[in-house]
Amino acid sequence: MGSLDERMDSGEMAMAEPLRVGLIGAGGISRQHLPGYQLDPERVRLAAVCDIREEAAQEFAGEADIDASAIFTDAREMCELADIDAVDICTIHDTHAELAIAAARAGKHVLLEKPMAISVDECRAIVEATEEAGVTFMVAQHLRHVPSYVALRRRIQAGELGRIWSARTDTFLTAALEDPNQPIALPSGWWGFDGKRGGGGVVTLLSVHHLDLMRFFVGEVVRVEARAWRGHPSFTNDAEDRAVATLEFANGAIGTLTASLTSRAPWLFQTVILGDQGAAWTPPPEENTPLMWHRIPAVMTSAQQEGDESFDPTTSFRPVDTSDVSLPTMNPYVNEIAHFAACCEDGAEPVSGGRDNLETMKIVFGIYESAQTGRVVELGEL
Ligand SMILES: NC(=O)c1ccc[n+]([C@@H]2O[C@H](COP(=O)([O-])OP(=O)(O)OC[C@H]3O[C@@H](n4cnc5c(N)ncnc54)[C@H](O)[C@@H]3O)[C@@H](O)[C@H]2O)c1
Repeated sequence: MGSLDERMDSGEMAMAEPLRVGLIGAGGISRQHLPGYQLDPERVRLAAVCDIREEAAQEFAGEADIDASAIFTDAREMCELADIDAVDICTIHDTHAELAIAAARAGKHVLLEKPMAISVDECRAIVEATEEAGVTFMVAQHLRHVPSYVALRRRIQAGELGRIWSARTDTFLTAALEDPNQPIALPSGWWGFDGKRGGGGVVTLLSVHHLDLMRFFVGEVVRVEARAWRGHPSFTNDAEDRAVATLEFANGAIGTLTASLTSRAPWLFQTVILGDQGAAWTPPPEENTPLMWHRIPAVMTSAQQEGDESFDPTTSFRPVDTSDVSLPTMNPYVNEIAHFAACCEDGAEPVSGGRDNLETMKIVFGIYESAQTGRVVELGEL
């Protein structure tokens, strides 16, 4: 089975039969998942699709070469009738728990888009249902499958940055401004701005990626304090368009998060990790196309590099060396599907399995509780 890091290198998987997957929710993100099923259909392939909008399911089936007899508008029916081993749930947040639990009870392995669900109770119910059913369950935290992030985690765990004392993440996306010049402009009334459907606002939509990445790099968070801004006209049902949080990690490091969907600022997704022997940064890309945001290399500087006279660690960062990482591609969405298929095959726990992802979701809901009560929230109590 190998260590967690070895399992990140999913190239060693040897499958007798391909894993047959039914995709649920043929919307935006499904198109990023599709190449993951086209990379090596002898290992993992799409065999069915379901969307409550029949035309969306049909369109996707055409693109994915799925037989007309395997197009569904009801996910339970798909699980009952289609010849599939697993589901890939790409729907809106308030449907995640119901769909994941039903699929697990039907004996299907479950790959579920982030965020796992819209409350801690729902997340726990999914984890328990998938464990009871004995199926593989993985939350699609695709940033854990960016090759340079995997390499950076290894460097941090090997102690190259020394003792980590600070982690910071910024998530600014102007998607809610309804400005046609923005690379992504989402209309008011979009489900992601509706607290009931989305389970929150910018934190559940976007920051969940970077909170999970900070855990991946630094470890567990034990308590949080946060403030959230609500009331922007594009947002309904208490969804926050901006948030700021302080996180205390179990190892004593302090993290900060700043997130906004409405500040008039350039797009910015970045994470900075500071240790007493070095620093690392996941810098924003120069190009503002959505896929570019997940293909940029992490950079770092550390005392270990000081022996190299051509490099000044006080003024520059260097790309993290990825030569010991053997993920299938540079595309994290493709890599996460290969990893899921490998785990379904050999029974290994995925890198973002249910118990692991519950800890990310506790940070999300801890931020909401703190923003509501004005108090520090102990995540162990959630
Ligand atoms: N990892 C990433 O980078 C990333 C990016 C975007 C979205 N996401 C996540 O992916 C998920 C979907 O987001 P999206 O942007 O693709 O949304 P979307 O609105 O574009 O697509 C959702 C699709 O699900 C369908 N649907 C809704 N309820 C359903 C049900 N009960 N059964 C079957 N189909 C149903 C809708 O008709 C729609 O076609 C969300 O969890 C979102 O947070 C992840």
